[in-house]
This record gives sequence, C-alpha cells and structure tokens, in this order.
Amino acid sequence: MNVAVVGQGFVGLSLSVFLASKKIHVYGVENNKKKISILKNGKPTFFEPKLNNHLQKCLQTKNLQFIDSLDSVFNKLDVIYICVPTPNKKSSINLTYIKNVITEIQTLLNRTSKKPLIIVKSTISPGTSKLLVNILSKNNKNNLGTDFYFTVNPEFLREGSAIDDQFNPHILVMGTEEIKSKNKIKSFYDKLYSEKISRIFTNYSSAELIKYSNNAFLATKISFINSISNLCEKIPGANVDDVAEAIGLDPRIGPYFLKAGPGFGGSCLPKDLISFIDVYKSFDVPSTLLNSVKNVNERQLEQILKILENKFTNFSGKTISILGLSFKENSDDIRESRSIKLIHAILKENCVINVFDHLALENTKQVFKNKLVYCNSIPECLKNSDCVIIMNSEKDFKQISKQNIQNMRRPLIIDSRRIIDEKIKKIPKIEYVALGVNN
Ligand code: UDX
Repeated sequence: MNVAVVGQGFVGLSLSVFLASKKIHVYGVENNKKKISILKNGKPTFFEPKLNNHLQKCLQTKNLQFIDSLDSVFNKLDVIYICVPTPNKKSSINLTYIKNVITEIQTLLNRTSKKPLIIVKSTISPGTSKLLVNILSKNNKNNLGTDFYFTVNPEFLREGSAIDDQFNPHILVMGTEEIKSKNKIKSFYDKLYSEKISRIFTNYSSAELIKYSNNAFLATKISFINSISNLCEKIPGANVDDVAEAIGLDPRIGPYFLKAGPGFGGSCLPKDLISFIDVYKSFDVPSTLLNSVKNVNERQLEQILKILENKFTNFSGKTISILGLSFKENSDDIRESRSIKLIHAILKENCVINVFDHLALENTKQVFKNKLVYCNSIPECLKNSDCVIIMNSEKDFKQISKQNIQNMRRPLIIDSRRIIDEKIKKIPKIEYVALGVNN
C-alpha cells in the first residue's frame, strides 16, 4: 500500500512515522526544501519524545521517503492524507494551503486511473469539506465515489505525546457522505487500529464540528478552573488544587484539564477557539461562552503582573528570571506560549530578564534576539536575580535547590503552577507566591 502524507508539520510527520512503522510505504510530502533535507538526515524539525527513534527506523527500512511534490508518485497512491496548516486570518480560517493541495490533486486525478482515498486531517471549519469535494470534482470530471474517495478525519494528538497518541488514539472520527468512501476508510482503519478504539462515523459538518467542539471544551475547562483560581487567591485558606481535585472526582466532570495556571497556549487551543468564534459569527449565533473563555485566558497573565506590581515599586536595575518558555513542559514549541506573552509585557519595564528552558531557548532567541539573557541552567538563571517566575510544570523546576535560591538577590518565587516542593517553601527568608492560593 502506498500512502502520501502532505504537510510534514507536527501532525503530518508523526502520522508518517506511525504509518511507516506499520509497514505501509509512506511518501512524506513537504514543499519546504530545507525541511526535507533535514528530515532525510533523520532529524525531526521540532522536538517530540520518541519521534527521533521512529524516524530513523523508518528511514532505515525505507518505508518512509520524503519528497517535495505529489506529482512524481501520484499514480502509485492509494491514500492521500492532507495535514497542511489552516491558520487564522481575519474573521475566518485561511484555506489557501489546503485549497492549493486539493487543486493539485484535482489536476493529477485526470492523469491517472488510480482512485485514491483522500483523508483530511487539517482542522477545517464547517462547510469546508463540501467546498474541497467540489474542487476535486471540478466540472464533474472526477466523481466522488467513482474517481476518488473523501473523508474528514480530525486529529486529536497532543504535543509531547504525539507518537503514543498516533499509535493509540482515543477516538477515530470519520466524516463521509457516500457509502464507498465510508467503506474505504472503515476497512483501512480496521487494519490499522485496534478494535478497542471508539469509532464515530458521521457526515462532513459534524466531523468538522467535533474537532472544534473538542478543543473549545478543553479550553473552557481551563478557563473555568483559572477563574476559580483567581477567586481562591482572594479567599483566606482557599487552594485551587483542592477544589480541582474534588470536582474532578465527579465522573460527570473528570480530572483532566483542571490544572490552573497562566492560561493555555500552543498551536491549537488558542487558534481553534478564535476560528470557532468566527464560525459562530458567520452563522449569526452569539458566541457568548466562547468569548468569555478567550477573555479569561487572555487576562490570566494579569495575575502574575499584579504580583510583580505589588512586589516591586520600581523595576529599574532589577533582574527577573523566567523558568519555562515553551507552551507546555517537554516541548520546544513557543507558539502562543504564555511565557512569551509575559516576557513581552515585562520587557516594557526596563528590567533584565534571565530565561531558561531545557528545549525552547533557541526558538525564544529567534523572537527576542539580544533583549534577554539566555541561561543554560537553572542556577545560572537564578543567580543574583530579584524574582523567579515558574511558568510550566517541568519536573526540574519542582526541585530548585536551596543553594540556587540562596544565590538570588531576593528569594522571591512566583509559582504559576504550584509545583515547588514543600521543603523549599520553608527555607528562611523565602518569599513564595503562587497563583490559585490565598498567599
Ligand atoms: C491540544 C489538544 O489537547 C489536542 O487534542 C489537539 O489535537 C491539539 O491541541 P496541545 O496543544 O498539544 O493539544 O496541548 P495540551 O496538552 O492540550 O495543552 C494546551 C495548553 O493548555 C497548554 O498551554 C497547557 O499548559 C494548558 N493546560 C492544559 C492548562 O493550563 N491546564 C490544564 O489542565 C491542561
């Protein structure tokens, strides 16, 4: 079986290595030539646990090959996955990349007798699948169910566990509107995935909505607990983690996505929330709840800025250390990272900012150039600093040593995730402030 995966970003590359390790012959298609040459050398273009090993194995077995266009292999292809980005643009999503790929496939379809199954993984707004099928069947030259098959199959993987999520997804959502496409995707996935994984067969619009609703619900849970967290800070004795633990034990609520902190970031939740609000607007339905979810998230950093304002009347000559730059631990991804937004805000205060992250220093340098002090370790980042802000739950940040803290000019710790060890909090003279607790 020959499969092409168009777009070798997070979703596309992890999908490619998954398929190739299932002994499918995979063409990873990517139009960025620089990226291709890095991938051909067995190096992923971003950090993701387990990806490196898988990529190298797939290249050794020759089950995965990287190419820059569909053209040369099109007449061999049984399945074509579309994993290109669909970023936000003003008031709707930007479909330029996906339309370009679909238009290219439409042209290539005329040159082959192959009838590929086209699987859209990219996040698309309701109505997009219909539009794409119309492009593919331009002037009725190619017919759905005869000349090609089509399904919208949204992706739910998380960065940091992308490989495990590929091998063992919690769900398979398949949107089709014609029986042969449905049978094709069903039999392909029956061979690929365990029968224990839930399957949802639905139409295009519902499949498109499922992805947005899923991410919007996760975002809602986070903004909900963050708004409880802000209240806890005002109520003597209150602790958001106790509240979250208890409500999370109600099976109707569940324990996940109730970790209060500086807000959600990353390449998906913020982007998809904005796109979903645009979908509401386009159908003239009020998006009151989602607007609030977005507002709570955007304002969450103010909690940290307020603490800084209380602690420092004058920032001049002060050094602020920031631990954790990526949007979540164990990642080098700084897209929509709360740390990056926080740094932009603090930079206005004319102070020195020391930063440290195990994986995301290089990406952060691209954004801030020489405006920050880039440190290679926790001790270096904390030395002679007036305050350290912990931005994600990286395990090393939980156990900053007593020595590191004593080397600070002022031992002020702002813990946005409440991860610091109890014994550290007991060090004499330490000033410990956490989000979500009444300090
Ligand atoms: C998310 C979705 O989880 C995934 O299903 C979808 O396919 C892509 O978007 P990802 O962006 O990898 O995945 O990260 P996720 O683990 O969901 O975290 C998103 C953000 O929310 C991070 O900034 C994280 O720190 C924050 N978060 C998450 C919280 O603040 N509290 C929580 O309880 C959970």
